[in-house]
Amino acid sequence: MVVIAKNCPDIEVEVVDINENRIKAWNDTNLDNLPVFEPGLSEILIDVRNNNLTFSSKVESSIRNSDMIFISVNTPIKEKGMGAGETSDLRWVESCARLISKSARGHTIVVEKSTLPVKTAQTIKEILDSSTSNNSDEDRTFSVLSNPEFLAEGTAINDLVNPDRVLIGGDDLEAMNALKDIYIKWVPENKIIFTNLWSSELSKLSANALLAQRISSINSLSAICEVTGAEIGDVAHAVGMDSRIGGKFLKAGPGFGGSCFKKDILNLVYLSRFYGLNEVADFWQETVAINSWQKNRIYKEIVARLFGNLADKKIGILGFAFKENTNDTRESPAIDICRNLLNEGAFLNIHDCKVNEKTIDKDLSSKNLFDKNMWAHKKDVYSVFEDAHAVIFMTEWSIYKTLDWKRILPIIKQPFWVFDTRLILDPNEIKNFGLNIWQLGNGMNK
Ligand code: UGA
Repeated sequence: MVVIAKNCPDIEVEVVDINENRIKAWNDTNLDNLPVFEPGLSEILIDVRNNNLTFSSKVESSIRNSDMIFISVNTPIKEKGMGAGETSDLRWVESCARLISKSARGHTIVVEKSTLPVKTAQTIKEILDSSTSNNSDEDRTFSVLSNPEFLAEGTAINDLVNPDRVLIGGDDLEAMNALKDIYIKWVPENKIIFTNLWSSELSKLSANALLAQRISSINSLSAICEVTGAEIGDVAHAVGMDSRIGGKFLKAGPGFGGSCFKKDILNLVYLSRFYGLNEVADFWQETVAINSWQKNRIYKEIVARLFGNLADKKIGILGFAFKENTNDTRESPAIDICRNLLNEGAFLNIHDCKVNEKTIDKDLSSKNLFDKNMWAHKKDVYSVFEDAHAVIFMTEWSIYKTLDWKRILPIIKQPFWVFDTRLILDPNEIKNFGLNIWQLGNGMNK
């Protein structure tokens, strides 16, 4: 919305949320208190906030006055009931649709921005249409469009300013053109694609599934590298130079995290099973299974190298976010790996450039398994190493690539192990300091 406001000064953008604290945070004059950390966001926000972009909790009046409404609510995986653990929980989408149906006036274009299971637009349409038939005194009509978001966290602003494509799905050409008129202010026309609603919804799930599948593919190959003497970085480089394959999304790591990949694949799996396409479901399910396996095998490698015993050992964790340049920890591989290490009796010193202690506490203790006496949040990256027997590089924050190892040597316990799950270190440099290193996908590990 910030990027729309910036590029369309003639459009009034109102971001509304029933959560008043969140709105307060978006209105905070101290930009360090914004609800999300995203490079480049605050610079644009400061330009447009309270000009043509406002944040408020006046949801109903905003709906009443709007010509176009973007539904951008959370759609996490359902925790209970039918489809639990597989399909999205649509309660917030449905309640938005009900609120819109109650409060909208005149003709309103409703845009699905959240990532949704295929055919959700049908549900939204039915809810909206029921309100038009119930209230014959009010002349209100709706058009529903799908306009999935393809931005990635950490590069969101650039992804929005220079998108590979903008996808608009619908069956009402006038409404589709109205949305196109917004994007065309900064996106070249040949990058704005029209499809029907279902192709648009499915394209979003497919893009994420294919990206995640590439990561599971390269991660599965990382394990083969380790046992054959090959190096995953070299293999990825060599295969990525094939223009049919391409080099992006071939970086081996501890497994994909983030709020979307797993959820979107599970939605595809659910959809496939619903239509009796069990082989298709099994195929996509395996992408998620390899991801869990990757996290698990890393944990086992760590335990094995630390003599099978973590009790009374201190381990440094560098990075808790699911990737660099974000403070988001949803589905972060660090969570599962840390939980497993805590379960073995290790004490963890945890550092992250943007994730705060409260978030780590929530992630580690959400199942009430571990208390705060078993880990510490460290603000200074070097204090992670104090009396530690090992360190694990979990997130590829750039400051971790240039640590001063001479400063670290006197404060660690020997023998000391370095576990590099992101391939950001030079193993020879680490070995030259007399330290042991295990690097993901490196066939030269001992
Ligand atoms: C992903 C997609 O890339 C976006 O296009 C999509 O809009 C977004 O989900 C969404 O649906 O909201 P995001 O999850 O923010 O974006 O971040 P990615 O850059 O895709 O990274 C996801 C995970 O894969 C991270 O844990 C990252 O470390 C990992 N990854 C990524 C790798 O392990 N290797 C790679 O080569 C790339």
